[in-house]
Formats: sequence, structure tokens, C-alpha cells
Amino acid sequence: MESYVELRHISKSFGRVKALDDASLSCSQGEVLAIVGDNGAGKSTLIKILTGEFQPDSGEIRIGGRSFTHLTIRQALAEGISCVYQDLALGDTLNVAQNIFLGKELTRHGLLLRKEMERESAALLERLKIDIPDPRVPVAALSGGQRQGVAVARLVNRGGSILIFDEPTAAMGLTEAGRTLALLRELADQGLTVIIICHNLAQVYQIADRIAVMRHGKVMREDQASKISQQDIVAILSSALLDETEGGKHAETL
Ligand SMILES: Nc1ncnc2c1ncn2[C@@H]1O[C@H](COP(=O)(O)OP(=O)(O)OP(=O)(O)O)[C@@H](O)[C@H]1O
Ligand SMILES: [Mg+2]
Repeated sequence: MESYVELRHISKSFGRVKALDDASLSCSQGEVLAIVGDNGAGKSTLIKILTGEFQPDSGEIRIGGRSFTHLTIRQALAEGISCVYQDLALGDTLNVAQNIFLGKELTRHGLLLRKEMERESAALLERLKIDIPDPRVPVAALSGGQRQGVAVARLVNRGGSILIFDEPTAAMGLTEAGRTLALLRELADQGLTVIIICHNLAQVYQIADRIAVMRHGKVMREDQASKISQQDIVAILSSALLDETEGGKHAETL
């Protein structure tokens, strides 16, 4: 089966910094892909190529079998690509339903259909198994994990089908992180495509179907999670071992 989202041979430099160097990865519908790698490996840059925030210098982006040399932010949104940023950008003074329908309010004859939006929000939250009993609650009163849930529900309501999370659990305690990971798993199980950047390998193994290991702008390895062990990842990321193999490769090509 062809992957739903594919980045092929993507390179991107910022001045002299080669942020991405021939990086490739792929993810199918219904899958969680986790991207791991040290600080500065190029994880966020790769994601921003997909959201249209950055244009690659070279390479190909494939979505649903269609090919692009780059995406604009508008095109990426039209393709269903949505990124959940760390600040979540929720309106704190608004309630859950108002946040979910923000910018996409239901109206009739110029009047807001408040009840209808609340009903639809409740149905959407239930379908996504997001644990918020009442869509009339102001989001300021919610926990970190629930706020994450509102941000996700809003993106899905806007047509997002490829959801990208850049370190969603970084600032969370164990319980909240656990809930957030369960939500991401649920979204994938419902057929969405989920890409997550995560530094916590235990969390990665908890939810990922596929893992991409990045180092120095390259995807060193990308495979099913069941085929990559934690030791494999550590070995790739640990500089001593890699410098050895890089040295070896270098010697071969000389
Ligand atoms: N807008 C930019 N201008 C210049 N350099 C950039 C820009 N964005 C990223 N870089 C550089 O590209 C490289 C990759 O950065 P990136 O943010 O993708 O790493 P990362 O893997 O997300 O790291 P972290 O785990 O710290 O978030 C780094 O050397 C970074 O300094
Ligand atoms: Mg980053």
C-alpha cells in the first residue's frame, strides 16, 4: 500500500546551516509516525516543510499519491495538514464549543447557532473520545490534556486529516502525557494520519507504528516501531558509534 504522506529526498539550508540533508519519511492513514532525534537534528524543519511554512531547496512531497515540489501554507491546509503547536492558540475566555468553531461559526440569518455548535461539539468530542463532559465550559478551566483535546477537535472540525504534533507532551506530567498519547492513538485508529515529534522514547514506543530517527538533517533510519529497538535508536544517536560509521563510510567513498 502506498503511504499517504511522503517526504522524499528533502534538503533545506539556512545560509550555511544544512538543516535537512536528503531526508525522507512516510506515513500511512491510520498510523502514528514518531520522529526522534537530538536538538537541532532537523525535526521541526522537516515538519514545517509539510505545513508549508518552509520551502525545501530540493526534494518531493507526496500526499495521497499527488506530488508537490513545495507546499504553501494554504495548500497544506487544503490537503488536510494541520499542526498542533505547543501554545495551542486557544481563546481562553471562550468556551470549548466556541473554540472548536472559532472562525467557522455556524450561523443562520446572521445569528450564531449556539445550541447547534454545542451539540456538534459534544458529538465530535465523544467521537474522538476526548474527555470533556460539557462543551460550555470555558477552556481556561481545563487541564493541559483537555486543552490539547480542544485544539485537536478544532483542527478535525476544520477538515484536518494529517495531524502533526511538535513535542506535545514536553511540558506535561505523567497523567496528562498519558491522556494525550491515548488521544493521538485514538485519532490514528479512526483513520487519521498522526505525526509526532517526541524526545521521550518510552512514550514513542507507547504509540508509534513507525519511527524515524534523525541526525544532522538526515533520516538515519525509518521503519516499523516493532523493527527498531530502543538500543538501535540510542546507537544511532550516540555520537561515538555514528562518528565511527561515518568515518568508515567517508573512507569508503574517498
Ligand atoms: N528559521 C531558521 N533560520 C536559521 N536556521 C534555522 C531555522 N530553523 C532551523 N534552523 C537550524 O536548522 C537546524 C535544525 O533545526 P530544527 O529546529 O529543525 O531542529 P529540531 O530537530 O527540531 O531540534 P529541537 O529538538 O531542538 O527542537 C538547526 O541547526 C537550526 O539552528
Ligand atoms: Mg524542534
